[in-house]
Amino acid sequence: MAIIVNEQKNQFYLHTKNTSYVFENVCGLLAHSYWGKRVEDVPPMAELYPLTGIALVAADLPEPYRSSDILLQEYSTYGSCDLRTPSFSAVYSDGSPITKLAFKGYKIYNEKLSPKGLPATYTNEGDICQTLEVELFDELKKVSVFLYYCVFEEKDIITRFTKVVNNSEEAFTMNSVQSFCADFPHMNYDMINLHGAWAREGHIERKPLFVGTQQVNSKNGASGPNHVPFIALADKDTTEDSGDAFGLTLVYSGNWYAGVDVDRHFRPRLMMGLNPFNFEWQMKSGEEFYAPEVIMSYSSQGLGQMSRQFHNIVRENLCRGNYRDTERFVLVNNWEATYMDFTEDKLIEIADAAAELGVDMFVLDDGWFGKRNTATTSLGDWYVNTEKLPSGLKGLGEKINAKGLKFGLWFEPEMISPDSDLYRAHPDWCLHTNGRPRTPCRYQLTLDLTRKDVCDYIVDFLTKTLSENPINYVKWDMNRHFSEAGSALLAAKNQREVAHRYMLGLYSILERVTTAFPNVLFEGCSSGGGRFDAGILHYMPQVWSSDDSDAVERLYIQEGLSTVFPFSTMGAHVSAVPNHQIERNTPIKLRGLVALPGQFGFELDLSKMSEEDKTASKELIKAYKQYGEVFHRGEYFKLSSIFKGQNTAWEFVSEDKNTVIVMLYNIQGKLAVPHKVTKLKGLDAAAKYEDIKTGKVYGGDTLMNLGIFHDCDHDQTCDMLVFKKV
Ligand code: GLA
Repeated sequence: MAIIVNEQKNQFYLHTKNTSYVFENVCGLLAHSYWGKRVEDVPPMAELYPLTGIALVAADLPEPYRSSDILLQEYSTYGSCDLRTPSFSAVYSDGSPITKLAFKGYKIYNEKLSPKGLPATYTNEGDICQTLEVELFDELKKVSVFLYYCVFEEKDIITRFTKVVNNSEEAFTMNSVQSFCADFPHMNYDMINLHGAWAREGHIERKPLFVGTQQVNSKNGASGPNHVPFIALADKDTTEDSGDAFGLTLVYSGNWYAGVDVDRHFRPRLMMGLNPFNFEWQMKSGEEFYAPEVIMSYSSQGLGQMSRQFHNIVRENLCRGNYRDTERFVLVNNWEATYMDFTEDKLIEIADAAAELGVDMFVLDDGWFGKRNTATTSLGDWYVNTEKLPSGLKGLGEKINAKGLKFGLWFEPEMISPDSDLYRAHPDWCLHTNGRPRTPCRYQLTLDLTRKDVCDYIVDFLTKTLSENPINYVKWDMNRHFSEAGSALLAAKNQREVAHRYMLGLYSILERVTTAFPNVLFEGCSSGGGRFDAGILHYMPQVWSSDDSDAVERLYIQEGLSTVFPFSTMGAHVSAVPNHQIERNTPIKLRGLVALPGQFGFELDLSKMSEEDKTASKELIKAYKQYGEVFHRGEYFKLSSIFKGQNTAWEFVSEDKNTVIVMLYNIQGKLAVPHKVTKLKGLDAAAKYEDIKTGKVYGGDTLMNLGIFHDCDHDQTCDMLVFKKV
């Protein structure tokens, strides 16, 4: 059994194959006892951690617990005696900001429960997942907070989410509701997060905890790019392969929070959930509210295993749809080839070259609609520009199909240009606040997805365009984040609900559109990886990882993102040189081998490609068709990190361990230095593996313990080694 309740000891055990998560009911408060490697029995809290220090506030608990302010808690509230950062806070109709939650009861479900209206993990046939529901109740205010723990036993994953129910006759205002909270007994940890900016997403940062508050978050209406919704604590000596790593990622695409408050007794409180900053929710009588799901991945075998557990659950229990398990399309996107300056003939020329190379799909990016010849206009006017495309989308799609290619199209559905027919007809359809400017970014405003009429309009134009034209793929872009985020239809007291209501609107649209068009592959994008999160991946199994398509920069971005997300979720294309963002020249081989493990494609004018590059591209496509499955469904091992030097190596091992692919990248050459040794991981030690290029055969143990030797004496060199079990 994954969930065991020890009624005598008031303890709750959540066991996965290799991990345990334990908490205890201490005088009505939930105390966090343990999260780590599997143990069958944990001593009671009273014996577990010596409680040092004197509480500065009332001693609300009997000895030896003393005060809720020093108890290690599982979910904390504001206003009583725990004065650390709360996981829940609200203001009631009498003006009181005090909530006092006490344990009321629990239920165990032999199924996976999920937060309503929000993306979440799910089970497949045959998966075993139990859910523990714990009800905490405020007797005075008649508020229930339900904590849900879903245990994916075989996957070493637990997920958590929260539901709040107002059982009273009166409304109240909720201003913080976290999905995950746990207090740790000591602070000997590093905090790891993935920070970024436009064109520099997913960079890894690791810093020791300090006493005080350290947090990462988003306030801009989308999850990134400043930080990926991810946080981990790791022992100071945790490496890729050893040591404790506690990872959390939020299944949410809007304003989020992840933080660690280390208190005066050096004990960290780790929390994750909706960002309390500028958040309020009016809870009417009888109303319930769901906070998003957090995916928890603990490993005692280092960060690599923590990541592999995330990859597994994201791939198999989060991403959905017809393309979840299939190899997707090698595509060519015309953005960097033409930007908005194209004609139908030009597009056909690129499609012709694509067909010759063996590409599967042609994607038409921005610029096909309204009067869109520059970014200044037409978002919202989703009708084809027949001056540019005289045969319309249908005619163009059919011509492309006739070449044996599928056809994909770019949209930015959540946006509106002030210069658009849509804006002229509906000036109040954008997010705005009365009396303030509507500040454009990239000449555009954000549609108000808190409104049902706006959501219906988006569903309608997408439904029409996707039904009337031969479209197999949609790139769903979102190129600005929020400013002056108010809504014309919401009352004054509901204005701080805008950011979350927007997400609920977006998720309802995505649910409707992706369900109606199961054969369309959706790829997320927000100026690259500005909204790369587990929420989006529930609807779209891949995201354009970055607008920086330079191979060297992508080594950092893709390695960083791989901390949480599998390569199957990362759009990665070969682009032209000099690179359009960073003006770096890199050989086709490096561009190709960096993009190959992701969702592979091209982002350049194929009709202008040299014969030499065409030959290389054909080889890349062949390799992708042959090994895509290993990259996307195999286990990933980061053999060395680009963040630690000028070379890096990624390894992918097929599920049956029969195929092993090693990608070696060297950015800066150095002469007269020792050979680089790379030891492989995750192989079958007793088996023999053949290097398919040289025909040489090595033992799995040899490859893992002696490793492979390679030179690093030239700039921008790389290699792809394939080993097959013999
Ligand atoms: C964003 C995307 C790009 C491209 C442009 C089009 O920047 O990230 O890939 O689609 O928009 O305007």
